[in-house]
Amino acid sequence: MILAPLRGVTIRCFRATFSHEIAEAGFTEAITPFITANAGVNPLKDRELGRGEEIPSIKVTPQFIGKDPDALKFCLEKIREKGYDTADLNAGCPFPMVRNKGRGSGLLKNPKLLAEMMSVGVSIMGEGRFSVKTRLGIDSPNELKALMPLINDFPLRYLTVHSRTAKEMYCGNVHLEEFKEIASNAKVPLIYNGDAPIDDFDWPKEYLMIGRSFIRSLGERENSNELVEKYIENSLKELGSPRAVLGRMKELASYWKELPRYRRLWPIVKLARTLDEFRIALNL
Ligand SMILES: Cc1cc2nc3c(=O)[nH]c(=O)nc-3n(C[C@H](O)[C@H](O)[C@H](O)COP(=O)(O)O)c2cc1C
Repeated sequence: MILAPLRGVTIRCFRATFSHEIAEAGFTEAITPFITANAGVNPLKDRELGRGEEIPSIKVTPQFIGKDPDALKFCLEKIREKGYDTADLNAGCPFPMVRNKGRGSGLLKNPKLLAEMMSVGVSIMGEGRFSVKTRLGIDSPNELKALMPLINDFPLRYLTVHSRTAKEMYCGNVHLEEFKEIASNAKVPLIYNGDAPIDDFDWPKEYLMIGRSFIRSLGERENSNELVEKYIENSLKELGSPRAVLGRMKELASYWKELPRYRRLWPIVKLARTLDEFRIALNL
């Protein structure tokens, strides 16, 4: 089972703080939130790629977003030097500002460029060491199907499909029928993503990528308050600024706002102006 990349949430400090819970839930790999692959940018300067604090039992795969094959090549060469042996391409980011510029899910509109990016990925990382994360389409859940012959031509490590279109962003029903059609067309290992619960879903566990349901489950644990305190401490060490840490903590707590234990607290939590107010609001 793979921990989904959630920018601002499943970051390195999160993975280090919740390492025990991540491993216990059955995750064997985590994809980093996306790192920009732009010309002239050294990916090793990105906080995500520092080593040493990661969970030893979990493989970490850096994910890149971009539309410049040379920049991607440079990034992949850099991470290989640093010891990473797998990488992932973001071909699913749905935000109009990203996709209209041809990055993220925008790559689905440009099969030639998508092929060039996959070609660079496979040639630098090696066969079976480069993966792609995408969606069923931009406007319609039938678009990815047309690209499967192209994708099948590359010896990818796996293809992750978030079973929504880009226009649907992160909400609404997932399209299981269209995902099954992709499954019947895919010659590369296929990973399901999109609102899968951690414990019971009709798709093999080793081919599941899960994000939000795991983050929510942390708030259901008896020791969730202790975990938050640990996350605050680790984040303060990393960021220094209590204000930045407060933003990070509120983002985590926002995943818990529907849980019985936190529902009443959330309206106060979201108004907290300092870490102390946040602690009081959460009864830490
Ligand atoms: C706040 C947020 C940030 C995200 N950041 C990324 C990202 O950096 N790269 C990526 O491929 N997907 C990203 N996603 C999408 C998730 O990886 C995942 O595809 C989506 O949340 C659906 O899976 P889930 O229902 O299990 O959470 C993000 C989603 C959210 C909500």
